[in-house]
Amino acid sequence: MRTPAVLITGANGEIGHALIERLAVADAAIVTIDVTPLDPALARHVRRELTGSILDRGLLERVLAEFEVDRIYHLAALLSTRSEFTPLTAHDVNVAGTLNLLELAQHEGESHGRPVAFLYPSSIAVYGMPDAETKAGIPPVREEDYNQPRTMYGCNKLYCEHLGRYYGRHYKQLASGVEPRVDFRSVRFPGLISAMTLPSGGTSDYAPEMIHAAATGKPYACFVRPNTKIPFMAMPDAVDALLALAAAHPEALTRYAYNLSAFSPTAEEVRDAVLKAFPDADIWYSADAKRQAIVDSWPAEVDDSAARQDWGFSPKFDFTTAFDDYLIPTIKERYR
Ligand code: SER
Repeated sequence: MRTPAVLITGANGEIGHALIERLAVADAAIVTIDVTPLDPALARHVRRELTGSILDRGLLERVLAEFEVDRIYHLAALLSTRSEFTPLTAHDVNVAGTLNLLELAQHEGESHGRPVAFLYPSSIAVYGMPDAETKAGIPPVREEDYNQPRTMYGCNKLYCEHLGRYYGRHYKQLASGVEPRVDFRSVRFPGLISAMTLPSGGTSDYAPEMIHAAATGKPYACFVRPNTKIPFMAMPDAVDALLALAAAHPEALTRYAYNLSAFSPTAEEVRDAVLKAFPDADIWYSADAKRQAIVDSWPAEVDDSAARQDWGFSPKFDFTTAFDDYLIPTIKERYR
C-alpha cells in the first residue's frame, strides 16, 4: 500500500522553508521535490526528498510509486527577474512543470476517487498597469482587472491559473457528471518578506534584501526608486493563508484565484523602518530601469476582500507590527 502524503515542489525555496516547518507540526507525511538538496534543518521533517526537476516525469512517477498524494503545494517556479533572463526556460518550468503537476493531480484524483487539493501560489505579477498615472490613481485592484502581465513570469502565472481552473472543472468530467478530480485553489501573493530566508530572482526582493543586508552590516543599493509602491506581506501570514485556503470548505469558494495583501509601503518607507532598527545601515538607491519597469507594472494595492469574505483571510501583521514584532526581532536573533 502507498503512504498518504503531501507533495511540495520547490520545497527548498522561500515559501517551502516556512511551509514545511508548519506542516511538520501537523504530522503529515511530506514528500518534496526541488532542484537543490533540502536545507538539512528542513530535511529532518520530510519523509522523502527527491532532488530533481518537475520537468522530469520519471521523477514524478517515482513519487506515485510509493506515495498516495492527496495534496500538492506547487511552489516551484522561476521568479520574475530571473525569468526575463531565460524566458524559454521560465516558460518550461513555470508552465510545462505546472502542467505535469496538474496531470499528476488528475491521475491521483482518479485513482483515489476523490479530488486532490492543488494549492498554487500565483502573484501580483499577473497584473499589468498601463502607466504610472493609472497605478497611482486607482482604488485597490480587483482580481479581474488589469490582467495584462508584462513579464514572462506574470504571463506564466496567469495562464497556469487558467490551467488550474480547466483541470478543476474538466469538460470531460462535467460531460459525464463525474465530480472534478483536481481541487485547484490559488492565491496571488504580493511581495513576501521572510525573516529566515531571502528570495532569489524576484523583483519585490528589494524589501527583504534591504532588511537582511542591514542586519548583517552590509551596504545595499536598492534597485528601485524611493517612491516605488507595491503590496507586501510577512511570510507567516503567507503560510497561514495557504493553509487556510487549503482548509476552506469548497462551497465557500467563489473564485479560483484570490488576491492577498497586508500592507503597501513605498521603498522609502521600508528603508525608514530598516534605519529605525539598524541606524548604521548603509542603504542608497541605484534604480535598475528594467526591474523598475517590472514593479511599476504591478499594482500599488490589491483588493483582497474576496479572500477575507470567503475563507477568513486576515493577516496578523501590518507594516509596523511586521517589522516590530516579526522581522526585526527574528532577524536579529538569526544573525546573532
Ligand atoms: N515576488 C515575486 C517576484 O518578485 C512576484 O510574485 O518575482
